[in-house]
Amino acid sequence: MVQYKDQKLHEEKVFKDPVHSYVHVRDQVIWDLISTREFQRLRRIRQLGTTFLVFHGAEHTRFNHSLGVYELMRRVVDDRFQGRDEWDDNERLVVLCAALLHDLGHGPFSHAFENVFQLDHEQYTRAILLGDTEVNAVLRKVSEDFPLKVSQVIEKTYPNRLVVSLISSQIDVDRMDYLQRDAFYTGVTYGHFDLERILRVLRPYKEHAVIKLSGMHAVEDYIMSRYQMYLQVYFHPVSRSAEAILNHILQRAKHLYMSNYDFDIEPRPFVPFFTNNITLEDYICLDESILFTYFQLWMNERDEVLRDLCTRFVNRRLFKYSNLNSEDDVERYGKLQQLFAQVGIDPMYYLVADSTSDDFYRPASTKNPIMILMPDGTLQELSTVSPIVDAVAGKMKVDRKIYYPLDVIEALEDEALRDEILTLLHRK
Ligand code: NI
Repeated sequence: MVQYKDQKLHEEKVFKDPVHSYVHVRDQVIWDLISTREFQRLRRIRQLGTTFLVFHGAEHTRFNHSLGVYELMRRVVDDRFQGRDEWDDNERLVVLCAALLHDLGHGPFSHAFENVFQLDHEQYTRAILLGDTEVNAVLRKVSEDFPLKVSQVIEKTYPNRLVVSLISSQIDVDRMDYLQRDAFYTGVTYGHFDLERILRVLRPYKEHAVIKLSGMHAVEDYIMSRYQMYLQVYFHPVSRSAEAILNHILQRAKHLYMSNYDFDIEPRPFVPFFTNNITLEDYICLDESILFTYFQLWMNERDEVLRDLCTRFVNRRLFKYSNLNSEDDVERYGKLQQLFAQVGIDPMYYLVADSTSDDFYRPASTKNPIMILMPDGTLQELSTVSPIVDAVAGKMKVDRKIYYPLDVIEALEDEALRDEILTLLHRK
């Protein structure tokens, strides 16, 4: 077997990237990893799931993002850290590979798909790195234990904590890439921050990458951009509506399969997922184009629920929403479920309670808060130095909504029941 620990490409390769201008590839191993079928598969998985139904530019994929994360990591280690006492350049290749491959295990429409079939993309990232795959064969050419090292960096169990913090902390290259990239492709004006400045003031310091005080304002901007992106893009109620429908399409298809429903076309790629008997190959073969193909085919199925949900998803006839906390307002939610059933709208598929999960800067509870390197050489947590960050840190509120097909409710013939439902939905 050819060993290529330090093998550089004869000539540097570049990818044109709309966010970082160019992605530079200098190592044979990186070039070979990009060519593997498991990495190429990421071209067929969107970075933002159903968000393209709201922001039509958001068609970018996990492939784009993964190259971007790799490029940022390369700039950190090659342009900033190399030659500094705190940085061991022997870690360069493992950290570059981990950056490139960190999202390798994501499935189609990640969250909805994982929820329905109770999968964990991190577990699949590990399986692809360590299993019988093209990625594994490339990594093993570096050294026999190299695939394991890469997976340890991604799983945050790698002994060198500085290396781990570059890829998973409150200001890591993964977040820095997706914030800029998602802002670019959605076309929103918030979400931008001075990435070049942050990279310039990033320093290796014992177990962490820290930020010099002179770069604090760029980091404040980064935190504000996270705040804006979560509220305006990631938690957008309409893309959550699409996700709810997607979720229920998969639930319905599974339910039908398990009750021996006779599909017009056997949903072969899904069977291992319905029966929870999934091989790595089954997982790798599934992508968003296959899901879309089946959704279009299912628009002609005899089962009314499956047919309707698929038509809604494909043609973007999404559910409307109202604010309702189904946990606090049990009575109102229960009454709605009862009325839905009464008028023949199955609440299991057509009344969806959903809350957004919070992933915002919380200095007190995070393992890797952002640390500012003060001129006297001491470290201070960001929110203790920045009044702006202190004002928003930990303040994200949970947003709870219910989703339902308003068109169907409005078309109900029984006016009294229709009005009762609309009143409970706060639509009257
Ligand atoms: Ni990522």
